[in-house]
Amino acid sequence: MRIIKSPEEMSHWSREQLASGMDIGFVPTMGFFHEGHLSLMRMAAKLAEKVVVSIFINPIQFGTDEDLSEYPRDLNRDSSFAENENVDVLFVPELKSMYPEPIKTKISVSGLTKEFCGASRPGHFDGVCTVVTKLFNIVRPSVAVFGSKDFQQLAAIRRMVADLNIDIEIVAHPTVRENDGLAMSSRNTYLAEEDRQSALSLYKANNSAKDMVSAGYSETAAIIDKLEVLINSYDKVEIEYLAIVNCFDLQRQKNIDDNSLLIMAVKVGRTRLIDNFLLHGKTGDI
Ligand code: PAF
Repeated sequence: MRIIKSPEEMSHWSREQLASGMDIGFVPTMGFFHEGHLSLMRMAAKLAEKVVVSIFINPIQFGTDEDLSEYPRDLNRDSSFAENENVDVLFVPELKSMYPEPIKTKISVSGLTKEFCGASRPGHFDGVCTVVTKLFNIVRPSVAVFGSKDFQQLAAIRRMVADLNIDIEIVAHPTVRENDGLAMSSRNTYLAEEDRQSALSLYKANNSAKDMVSAGYSETAAIIDKLEVLINSYDKVEIEYLAIVNCFDLQRQKNIDDNSLLIMAVKVGRTRLIDNFLLHGKTGDI
């Protein structure tokens, strides 16, 4: 596995691969790998001949009061994980090489990014879409794999790619979970041991919502009311949002249908957790 630090060298490598008829599968990350990231790498390897994984903690997607400085990092650990997954290139650009001067151009996907995580993290999705576009231009993949835990990021990137005629297939990988149901996330390292039970409230809410749908509940407001009570029964939780939306356009729904997606962001202590679940699962993963 090669570790490439400069965007120019990365582009050069990609150009050579494309010239020799290879296609590239890409997994953009911010590092501190867990099983979720490794599954994205495995999926990329199934979809393309060469796999590039980037690690870049992108400052322009963090708000001033967010966890940029404490975001977990461990390049040695990450490179041995990536090497085990037969990744061809680990692209680890330095901050200065990605943003030699303050960026004046931003990509903004309107509408889809306004509510939910977009409301509590203003500018976050502009930062994500901008860096993802930069990475796409540097790495030149034919396919890029994203985890569906970040449903709003996935929706925004899908829309950006469609709107801007970016010729890259966006593939979603289902959320990978711990044995107890907690969605894997690099930020789970912030969870204090005693908060672990409360962190499971999101998964418990999903199970409860699925039971209600199976029992014939169809009004989303009634389901949300019950889930709110359930989540709030755990210690140190604060619901940021809890909604049932259409999994494609993220519009809130009045009644359950095949595309109903339960979405939630809950603060447990100082850790903000997000999760989402398709309630019928008839359309497969988002
Ligand atoms: O999902 C992430 O880890 C990041 O938002 C991404 C897509 C790597 C962009 O910085």
